[in-house]
Amino acid sequence: MDLRSDAVVLFGATGDLAAKKLYPALYELTRRGRLDLPVIGVGRSRWDDQQLITAARKSVLETHGRLDDEVFDRLAGNLTMVSGDYADPDTYRRLAEALAAAERPLFYLAIPPAVFGAVVDGLAAAGLAARGRVVVEKPFGRDLESSHALNDALRAAFAPERIFRIDHYLGKESVEGLRVFRFANRLFEPLWNAEHIENIQITLSEVFGTEGRAGFYDRMGATRDVLQNHMLQVVALLAMEPPARAGDAAFREEEIRALRRIAPLAPESTVRGQYAGYRHEPGVAADSNTETFVATRLRVDSPRWAGVPFYLRTGKLMPGTATEVVVEFKAPRQDLVPAVDGAAAQPNLLRFRLGRGDGITLSIQAKDPGAEVASRPVELPVDFDAALGERREAYERLLDDALDGRHLRFAREEAIEQEWRIVEPILDLPEPVASYPKGSWGPADADALAGRWHSPTLR
Ligand code: BG6
Repeated sequence: MDLRSDAVVLFGATGDLAAKKLYPALYELTRRGRLDLPVIGVGRSRWDDQQLITAARKSVLETHGRLDDEVFDRLAGNLTMVSGDYADPDTYRRLAEALAAAERPLFYLAIPPAVFGAVVDGLAAAGLAARGRVVVEKPFGRDLESSHALNDALRAAFAPERIFRIDHYLGKESVEGLRVFRFANRLFEPLWNAEHIENIQITLSEVFGTEGRAGFYDRMGATRDVLQNHMLQVVALLAMEPPARAGDAAFREEEIRALRRIAPLAPESTVRGQYAGYRHEPGVAADSNTETFVATRLRVDSPRWAGVPFYLRTGKLMPGTATEVVVEFKAPRQDLVPAVDGAAAQPNLLRFRLGRGDGITLSIQAKDPGAEVASRPVELPVDFDAALGERREAYERLLDDALDGRHLRFAREEAIEQEWRIVEPILDLPEPVASYPKGSWGPADADALAGRWHSPTLR
């Protein structure tokens, strides 16, 4: 089934992900002439078509700051709503009616994992699964065991080639750019190993909190929300060996091999934190032990990375928003040039800025002006928007791919299982999380985890 899908069904149409990411993506696809299909919203809130259109309009305006009426009207003309309970067969009967003319619908499950099963069963019972593709949002299960159960449920209804598992980091141009940086440049390739790299740090920090979805987040926590998926994907891209040949299949294989080499995370090198006041938020348990911050150290068991720690940290209500990898290189083999004013020598840093305003910054040592020969760090930044022009958003690219049945940018089943294996020892730890003040870099113990965290470029 390689033909493009001929309808989109959006489960969770009244939810947070739809508002933040999916309507703007549908709008962009419409604008580029990539989407002129029925789009059916399904949700538990009793919305009519007009409410759906109003919500979609608001979400596009909030995301893009502006909207082209002609484009939006084209999208609005395709939007209809089916409201109902996910466990009620009548919801699927009405959906089947709305899909009567569609031969290859794409079902997008932007819903909490707890209701995946009910929706997949409902689609199968109504005879809809047999002719459709399904897109499943992360986190894929709650642990290794539940991810297996979810796979079984999905496979019972959909053929494997029709299942698309989203980790939207795989859809980011900036994250794909890591592959290009590593394998299309000779410059750093000889240095990409334990001989020259001291450590690698990855920070995914957000200045905002749980943004109205605390109830969902409280059952999740930072480890399941972003560490297990987005951050480990980035580790795999940084740590992987070069594939033996060009092409996506060989690349994906090698990425999975990299995940297999990552040792399970250890509670003793993990720090979990919770921002002050979190327990008072609506939807959060008064005694919640959910982490809104996690920092950890991981090891990649391969000759290339012997003794090189990877430090990962992520948190809500941090000093700023950033997704940044900092590769810290080792000091020069000989100490021949002092740092200015007797300061400690600064290492070379290579920063991959993967969030908004993405790009690369290389820190090198330059001669400090004056009579003395001493070094001080200067930065060589590249801003990819300026250098390459604007690029498409991850969700737009992923939706476009799923409509075409292209798997390349979706998470592979084994990758997800490896990721659960890696985080399993730090899930649901009984020890109380450490509180941290809003706007800080998490609990003090996290500072000690890496000898020295390099602050990411914040926005
Ligand atoms: C999502 C998480 O998967 O990723 C959110 O559920 C997080 O909690 C988001 O804010 C971060 O994505 P991005 O693209 O903004 O870095």
